[in-house]
Amino acid sequence: MDGNGRWAKKRFLPRFFGHKQGVEAVVKIVQACIDREVEFLTVFAFSSENWKRPSDEVSGLMGLVLAAVSRYLARMGAMGVRIRVIGDREAVSVKLRQAWDEAEASTQHNTKLTLSVAFNYGGRWDIVQACQSAIKAGVQPAELTEACLSEYMALSHAPDPDLFIRTGGEMRISNFLLWQVAYTEFVFSDCLWPEFGEVQLDAAIGLFRQRDRRFGGTAPALAGV
Ligand code: FPP
Repeated sequence: MDGNGRWAKKRFLPRFFGHKQGVEAVVKIVQACIDREVEFLTVFAFSSENWKRPSDEVSGLMGLVLAAVSRYLARMGAMGVRIRVIGDREAVSVKLRQAWDEAEASTQHNTKLTLSVAFNYGGRWDIVQACQSAIKAGVQPAELTEACLSEYMALSHAPDPDLFIRTGGEMRISNFLLWQVAYTEFVFSDCLWPEFGEVQLDAAIGLFRQRDRRFGGTAPALAGV
């Protein structure tokens, strides 16, 4: 969800307003995904590296996310959204941890769409924590297959993504789902995240549909979306 800061700057507003508008874009895209029968959506809300930002931006983002949970949790529940939070919860405030716990518990039986919010998340962190969890569970080296390790990854409740969309014009992965995107299709959009809506989503899905997915083989596989 890149481009919030630039969206605000273009309007001579503080960066915080870009993030605020970014939350509204998330809500709209969740509904758009439900309308298109997309069952899993994962958004990158705060990376392990975002702590490097100025402290007022970091605390602004923390407050914004807390406010978003209290403002939109009931609506998400009514929409049939199951919320999961992936990332290292140790470093976030007790208040935010409690909000995540409540969001997950109150939506756990919903089935329309699983919204995974990556918060204080990094793909490298995920691989390391999965290895640590497997070791703690007593998995022996010979048993540690790809399928086994996948069970310990933060996104084990979801299939590997079919489509990865990065907004804001940058063409890099920035430590997002490194393990899970082995055969994901990438779409990079110049659109700034607060302006990303149904039109841009359909354009990305359209590009996805044109891709020839062979998963390392020679025959095209059936597309998932
Ligand atoms: C990147 O844009 C955006 C972020 C680091 C924060 C994204 C977070 C939200 C939209 C809040 C989501 C909240 C919930 C509850 C899902 P940037 O600041 O790097 O933009 P720039 O590249 O234009 O500076």
